[in-house]
Amino acid sequence: MNKRILIASDHGGFTLKAAIKQKFPDFEWIDLGTDSSDSVDYPDYGFKLAKGITSGDAPRGIAICGSGIGISIAVNREPAVRGALCTDVTMARLCRQHNDANVLVLGERTTGPETALQIVETFLNTEFEGGRHARRVEKLSC
Ligand code: RB5
Repeated sequence: MNKRILIASDHGGFTLKAAIKQKFPDFEWIDLGTDSSDSVDYPDYGFKLAKGITSGDAPRGIAICGSGIGISIAVNREPAVRGALCTDVTMARLCRQHNDANVLVLGERTTGPETALQIVETFLNTEFEGGRHARRVEKLSC
C-alpha cells in the first residue's frame, strides 16, 4: 500500500491535522499547510490538496476545516477527487469500500478528536471492494 498521504487544513482544522500526523507516524505525510492557527481561506488549501491528487503527488489525501463542509466543496471541484466528509467510522468504511474515496474530509469543530482519529484509521486501512461499485465509481468520472 502507498503510504504517501497529502494532508491540508485551514486554521479551523489545524489542531486536528497535527494530531493525525502524530498518531500515525508510519505514513509519509505531505503537509500542504496551513502552518498555524492564523485565519486563512479553506478554498486555497482544498484546491492545493485536490491538485496534488490530480498530479499524482499521492494517491490519497485528508482535508480538514472547521465544519468539514467548505473544504469538502473545494476538493470535490477537482474531477479526479472523490472526497468524502465523514462524521463516523461507518461512513469512513463505506466511503472506501463502495466509493473508493481518495480524499477523507473532516470537521474539527463537528467531530470529536477520538472519533476523528478512528475515522482516519479506518479510511487508511480499508480497501475498495470493486465489483458493482467499480461500475458506479466509473460513472463519476467526467
Ligand atoms: C472558518 O472559520 C470556517 O468557516 C471553516 O473552517 C469551515 O468551517 C468552512 O466551511
